[in-house]
Amino acid sequence: MSQKKTPEIIAEPRVVLERSREWRSAGKSVGFVPTMGSLHAGHMSLVDRSVSDCDRTVVSIYVNPTQFGEGEDLSKYPRSFDEDLAKCAGAGVDVVFAPSDEVMYLKDHSTFVEVGGLTQVMCGLSRPGHFRGVTTIVAKLLNIVQPDAAYFGQKDAQQLAVVARMVRDLDIPVQIIGMPIVREADGLAMSSRNKYLSKPDRSAALCLKRALDAGSALIDGGEVSGQLVAAAMAEVVVAVASAELDYAMVVDPVTMDDVEEIDREVMLALAVWIGSTRLIDNCLAEPK
Ligand code: PAJ
Repeated sequence: MSQKKTPEIIAEPRVVLERSREWRSAGKSVGFVPTMGSLHAGHMSLVDRSVSDCDRTVVSIYVNPTQFGEGEDLSKYPRSFDEDLAKCAGAGVDVVFAPSDEVMYLKDHSTFVEVGGLTQVMCGLSRPGHFRGVTTIVAKLLNIVQPDAAYFGQKDAQQLAVVARMVRDLDIPVQIIGMPIVREADGLAMSSRNKYLSKPDRSAALCLKRALDAGSALIDGGEVSGQLVAAAMAEVVVAVASAELDYAMVVDPVTMDDVEEIDREVMLALAVWIGSTRLIDNCLAEPK
């Protein structure tokens, strides 16, 4: 079991690197959970796993501006540092890395990491430049923390696939561990952005899970057409007045390529606008 302890709060990349080097030279393994804060049970499932797998755990809390597009929610992204810190303390986190924009992106920062192919579909289409921002900050964070293992949620399945691809392609020496989606009791996938939802929008948001369930049920019943399953998911969303479908897709869980014939494990993936809030969700399904 994890123990309550006060994590060391570090703002300087150099100091985190120092700490990590001290630990590793003492033979300790280091786990890392990158986050944008506003921590909920989904984030904490990653933290708990890191604390139980590794001798030391670093959590980063940093709302990364380069992964937000023009007109997106960067300025209103929820922030709750004190509560986040208390949660990290309760989980036995050793270091909370909370840098400023100034230290993460120097004035003349000019280097970006870009993964091709699987970033050009789904969320990559709706949010141009988003994954370039994610891979750039994750590469920087991995260089700063130098962890043995880094934990990512299946909730952001495309992000997980993109990060895994970057780490493989650039030979970054870290194990990327994907963790299951944590949901509210009624099925809504936990997300910091759920805080934006009004009461009626919160109910409307349940259409994502309903759509995934409808798609999975079709596959369970023997449907093998990816297009038909995607259309059935879309139909569930379209029936909800305050929901606007961004995409409903059946894809390969590693490449994010469209799947025409469901003859292996596939991922059902959705992005839906509920009012001005964009939510994503997904699940895996296997043919009978
Ligand atoms: P953030 O949205 O804060 O998420 C941090 C991590 O928590 C991600 O790996 C995400 O997939 C995971 N997570 C979020 N909701 C979850 C849920 N309901 N169940 C399980 N895991 C969940 O993703 C980011 O931040 C950023 O893009 C980041 C990787 C930190 C780079 O800036």
